[in-house]
Amino acid sequence: MSQPLKIIIDTDPGQDDAVAILLALASPEEIEVLGITAVAGNVPLELTQKNSRIVCELADKPDVDVFAGCASPLERKLVTAEHVHGKTGLDGPVLPDPKMPLRETHAVDFIIDTLRREPAGTVTLCPLGPLTNIATAFRKAPDIVGRIGEIVLMGGAYFQVGNITPAAEFNIYVDPQAADIVFQSGVSIVVMPLDVTHKALVTRPRVEAFRSLGNHVGTIVAEWTDFFERFDKEKYGSPGAPLHDPCVIAYLIEPALFRGRHVNVTVETGSELTMGMTVADWWGVTNRTPNATFMGDLDANGFFALLTKRLARL
Ligand code: RIB
Ligand code: CA
Repeated sequence: MSQPLKIIIDTDPGQDDAVAILLALASPEEIEVLGITAVAGNVPLELTQKNSRIVCELADKPDVDVFAGCASPLERKLVTAEHVHGKTGLDGPVLPDPKMPLRETHAVDFIIDTLRREPAGTVTLCPLGPLTNIATAFRKAPDIVGRIGEIVLMGGAYFQVGNITPAAEFNIYVDPQAADIVFQSGVSIVVMPLDVTHKALVTRPRVEAFRSLGNHVGTIVAEWTDFFERFDKEKYGSPGAPLHDPCVIAYLIEPALFRGRHVNVTVETGSELTMGMTVADWWGVTNRTPNATFMGDLDANGFFALLTKRLARL
């Protein structure tokens, strides 16, 4: 039996972030969550740090260390997504305010301290929101870059183009400068772009499978997806909400559910027209060095079977 993978979840909950956190906390054989670092994204930081704690308590894991990180992007003005996630960021069900404390340490310092303390190469960073905390940690402590095992992130898009602008996916668009720092860092990166997360759609039968788990978590997850599916249904006419962020955690547990290519991914940071676009050299037409495994395919039934089974544990 191998040791569980040590991870830090960097997140901007967001209903889909919340499901990703639940999946991680429901999988202790494979995953040890060293801490959760909140970043401004879907909603402002005071809500993402609160929502992170709400989700830990929903999973009955009030001892998880939750840290607040950066309240705004490196250079640009914060763009949020209440139009998708609602005013609280976790609209749908009404959940009680958290009782568990927020840790005093700044999230960026927690990331730095953890990577310096843990043996090199043993910690995986799992960003589910804008990359501001990660890039700020790299700037503040360049020595940690070589100590990271892998970064598995949700963000970007190529064939699926943008969801917040015609060219850019939200997480990258909110802080393209931070994303550029991360993609140029040389760290081993696995990317879950919209190209694959748009194949993780919570269709009606899948929502009902959550709801019929018979536990509180199953009901809450069903109510979250009932709420945030309307944005994608209207925009794409899709048969359900895309569960973007849980793809990151599912990859850690069952990588064979995913298929992609190791290609060069470069982030647009110059043109306002395509700001935050992840330009993936999918066909290898440039001499840019491949720097990321860009996922394009998913065994959706396998993904939902895993997710539903694990949520049943909470
Ligand atoms: O574009 C989808 C991503 O943006 C997801 O991580 C969602 O939670 C938001 O952060
Ligand atoms: Ca997110």
